[in-house]
Amino acid sequence: MHAAQIARPGGAFELVEREIPEPAAGWVRVKVAACGICHSDSLVKEGHWPGLQYPRVPGHEVVGVVDAVGAGVSQWKAGQRAGVGWHGGHCGHCDACRSGNFFGCQVDLKITGIAFDGGYADYMVAPALALALVPEELSPVEAAPLMCAGITTFNALRNSGARPGDVVAVLGLGGLGHLGVQYAAKMGFNVVGIARGSDKEPLARKLGAHHYIDSQAQDASAELQKLGGAKVILATVTVGDAMSAVQGGLGLNGTLMVIGAAESMQVSPLVLIGGRRSVKGWYSGTAADSQDTLKFSVRSGVRSMNEVYPLERVAEAYERMMGGKARFRVVLSMEA
Ligand SMILES: NC(=O)c1ccc[n+]([C@@H]2O[C@H](COP(=O)([O-])OP(=O)(O)OC[C@H]3O[C@@H](n4cnc5c(N)ncnc54)[C@H](OP(=O)(O)O)[C@@H]3O)[C@@H](O)[C@H]2O)c1
Ligand SMILES: [Zn+2]
Repeated sequence: MHAAQIARPGGAFELVEREIPEPAAGWVRVKVAACGICHSDSLVKEGHWPGLQYPRVPGHEVVGVVDAVGAGVSQWKAGQRAGVGWHGGHCGHCDACRSGNFFGCQVDLKITGIAFDGGYADYMVAPALALALVPEELSPVEAAPLMCAGITTFNALRNSGARPGDVVAVLGLGGLGHLGVQYAAKMGFNVVGIARGSDKEPLARKLGAHHYIDSQAQDASAELQKLGGAKVILATVTVGDAMSAVQGGLGLNGTLMVIGAAESMQVSPLVLIGGRRSVKGWYSGTAADSQDTLKFSVRSGVRSMNEVYPLERVAEAYERMMGGKARFRVVLSMEA
């Protein structure tokens, strides 16, 4: 099979031929049809994940077909359409898992494309627990970005405490942000898109934003306050200063939901205290959350806007994402 691997931190993509992996007990092999390129793949490419073992094949927005199952796997069989996201499985029997807190699993929490090879390849193996059923209505290219960009924004929003009618701002309109705007609109919020420059405004409005703030030309905090203050700001940007700059736009009891993996940000205690505001982090979700995301997207018509590349052009595809040029998600298609 073909795979695109990174051999060392900061190394280039290498297209290599490898043996098709065999699924171990409890694992499943997926014949990959499509894999989205997430900004978090830069953690692997640029070597920003402590202790990561190289060479590594990135990719945690994977959609394909179950090809073979390892011993003891009864819930999956060859031919089923399946997706694999960031959350690559948990042990299922420690105290945290038994209380439903899979993210608290200290025994065996795995991250796809980090702890084991991901979907920039013709085949991959993943723990059975990590697989989500993919509905027939979605093509592999449509479904792939929903396995990380989709689930992360959908799950953060539905757990944010915002209610229909509340002002919900989405900061940053990249792969995550453009899906966040759509989910927020379909959930019935009063949606504000915030991005740098005016060129994304027509797209943001088409995706369902009721308001648009150009963060380079306007004071985003002041603009949000004119709307009554945001109940939630979903921060999808990669830069902490951009997050810090909007905290003044939170309304009373407002929450800055941080999903962009910026290195640091500044928070004003006075802003927090003065309006009982909070800052909260969120990471994607489990396979069950992925299935909820996919079903909601089918029902509500939420779709990622994609640019499709074959695996051989992975380096160019990755640069397009890193350069902020993609409108809005770059997806590798193994069938292209
Ligand atoms: N929490 C999680 O579970 C989770 C899941 C997936 C991804 N992530 C993280 O979420 C972030 C976004 O991922 P993505 O795949 O959507 O990335 P992306 O498509 O590359 O989009 C990057 C976003 O960052 C903004 N940005 C880039 N440079 C900036 C700068 N100098 N100043 C202000 N804003 C800047 C862009 O804003 P404009 O729209 O204004 O151009 C754009 O919205 C990444 O940090 C990624 O690692 C987290
Ligand atoms: Zn991701």
